[in-house]
This record gives sequence, C-alpha cells and structure tokens, in this order.
Amino acid sequence: DDLKITISLSKIKSSGRWAKAEAILRELEEKCGAPKAKLRQVADAMTMEMHAGLASEGGSKLKMLISYVDNLPTGPSNGTLVIEGMIPPHLMVGSSHELFDFIAAALAKFVATESEDFHPPPGRQRELGFTFSFPVRQLSLVSGTLIKWTKGFLIEDAVGQDVVGELTKAMERVGLDMRVTALVNDTVGTLAGGRYDNPDVIAAVILGTGTNAAYVERAHAIPKWQGLLPKTGEMVINMEWGSFQSSHLPLTEYDQSLDAESLNPGEQIFEKMISGMYLGELVRRVLCRMAEEADFFGYDIPPKLKIPFILRTYNMLAMHHDTSSDLKVVGSTLNDILEVPNSSLKMRKMIVELCDIAASRGARLAGGILGIIKKVGRDAVMQRERREGYHSIGWWSV
Ligand code: GLC
Repeated sequence: DDLKITISLSKIKSSGRWAKAEAILRELEEKCGAPKAKLRQVADAMTMEMHAGLASEGGSKLKMLISYVDNLPTGPSNGTLVIEGMIPPHLMVGSSHELFDFIAAALAKFVATESEDFHPPPGRQRELGFTFSFPVRQLSLVSGTLIKWTKGFLIEDAVGQDVVGELTKAMERVGLDMRVTALVNDTVGTLAGGRYDNPDVIAAVILGTGTNAAYVERAHAIPKWQGLLPKTGEMVINMEWGSFQSSHLPLTEYDQSLDAESLNPGEQIFEKMISGMYLGELVRRVLCRMAEEADFFGYDIPPKLKIPFILRTYNMLAMHHDTSSDLKVVGSTLNDILEVPNSSLKMRKMIVELCDIAASRGARLAGGILGIIKKVGRDAVMQRERREGYHSIGWWSV
C-alpha cells in the first residue's frame, strides 16, 4: 500500500509539473504570436523608420548607411576568391591591433599558398575587396569608421577607427603588398552577388549570426546625402535593420533579460529576436524558467543549463528538425549539451514545440522585407502579380 501511495503521489506531482511547463509554453506562444495583421504593422513601422533614417543622421534607430556603391556589377565575375575566416573567440573582445593582425596574417598565409592564376600582372599591386559585417560610417568606397560592434564583438579601441586604415597598417606589419579597393557590408556584397545572376535584384537580406538588409534607393530620396548625385541616380543603402525597434514587435520577458545581460543592452533588438547568435540562448532562457518553476528536468536544475549561450542555435535547429519517432536528436542534444540523460518523449516533444515557437517568430519577423518592398514602391507590383497568379522571382537575394 505504501508503494501504491508513493507512486500515485509522484504521478500527481509529475502531471502538475507538465501542466505548469505547458502553461509556460502557452504563455510564450501567445506573446511570440506574429499574425499577418501584426506583421503588417511591423512592416509599416519599418517603412516609416527607413524614411526617418534617410532624412537625417540619427533620425531613426535604423542607420540607413550610405554605401558609396551607386553602380552594381552586371557581368559575371572572374579572378576573385573569397576567404572566410572564423575569428577565435578571444579576439572578439581583445584589441583592434590583435584582430587586424590576425586577419592580415590569414591573408598573408593565403597569398603564400595561392595558385599562379591569381598572381597580379607584373607591377600591379594586389587588390582586396574587404567585406566587413558591422555598421560602418563610410567616408568613401574605400574608407569608413566603425560605428559600433554587434554580434558578440567588443573591441573598444576599434570603435571610431577607419577599418581600412587599420587593416592596411596590419598588412604592412606582416609585409603584405596589397591594397583595399572596396569596403562593403556583407549585405551590400550579397546584393552585388545577386545582381550577377539577375539584373532585377534590388535588395539583399542576411539571416545569419546577425541579420541585416541592403537595397537600392533612388539618390534623390536620401535627404541626408550631401554629396553630388550619382550618375546612375541610385545608391545602395545598408539599413542595419538589426537595430530596428518598434512597439509592434512581439517582445517577451526572455528577450528583455537576454538584452539586458548582453554586451550591447538596448541595441540590436530586432537582431536579438531573429538571428543565429541569439535563438539558442532564447530557448535556453525559457528552459531555465521551466526548470525553475515547473521542475521540468526534475527537482534539480541541470547545472549546464545555467551557462549562457551553451545551447547554440544550430543545436536548437537540429532539435527543431528532428523527425525521428523517438526524437533521438533532441535526446542526444539534451544529453550531450545539458547533461540531461534519459529524457522522456513527452519532455522532448515539448522542447521541439519550444524551438518551433522561437524559430517561427524569427522567420515571420524576417517578413520585415515587406517594409523595403513598400518603401521602393514595389508592393503594388507584387499585389498585381499575386492577383494574376504569379510571382516574379529574382528581386531578392537572401
Ligand atoms: C550585424 C551587423 C551588420 C551585418 C549583420 C549580418 O547586424 O551589424 O553590419 O550586416 O550583422 O552579418
């Protein structure tokens, strides 16, 4: 009899625990809701902020940075190599000198091993296109000062510096004879890449570690532009839309605490709701609450769960995409990352649902693209096409 009582008591406890965890999930789902009507408000707010950011410097949270790219390439490229590097974490918060020395050393190593096909003709210096994926106030196509760091970087002595100047000095230090001929944001590079394939491309969106968009604007629609109007009448704008903020955004307490404890509180709010740097962390924060308030993992809170950023977005996505009947990817992620062995199917299912809520909100908010379509006046075109039953493709490079 004693045994029976114990079992039924623990059943009641565990069913209460699931109910509480379920309630936390339902509350989250409600707060993260981004139905069409809300998305339209978000897109309209985006369009409004775009106008404000183009009107004057500092006119909006959206920086709407002038890229000095007024002419996008049309032909196919040749002779170009892209080197992508992962920056070791300690350099993300070190000094400017160390970071640029690292990049210059990687370049020097690459040049030493590259094939002869890429050697410049005699007497000609090597040329480098520098894609720098942070907000830069460009002074020309080949120079620009870093406004601030995003995505977990914090190297204070680099803020306000000309990043091309810093790289050039570092290249000189390692004896590399090379000059930067263009400095672009990754969105601007993506836009140019899109144009190679399709001349109708007018915007590019990055959904990666961070998020951002660039698009082609009519030069006379940029009141803050002081220079001569470009011959093409166009100018590529780096929106820095990661810093978009609006009362229409479906923010939750988890977003607020993530932001407050981040390296850049109060900044990049849109980015923190959407991008790969943060989605896993958002899920970890909800799991923490489920562990604390609903004993979701049992009476003890798994110590690993307390470590910020331990759950990476790719872990979260692997769980989200788990289609096995016993959700084994969720089970192994819980075991390997959070040291939670023997998770039940019920627990795994709830975690998949949690990942789905966070990922869906991010994906839907990326629909802020509609704000750009409206700004450039293509929404009517899109609506007509939808009525006529087709969609022109190739406007977007994602
Ligand atoms: C961050 C950067 C931005 C970049 C984006 C995508 O938002 O501030 O410059 O384009 O990440 O990499």
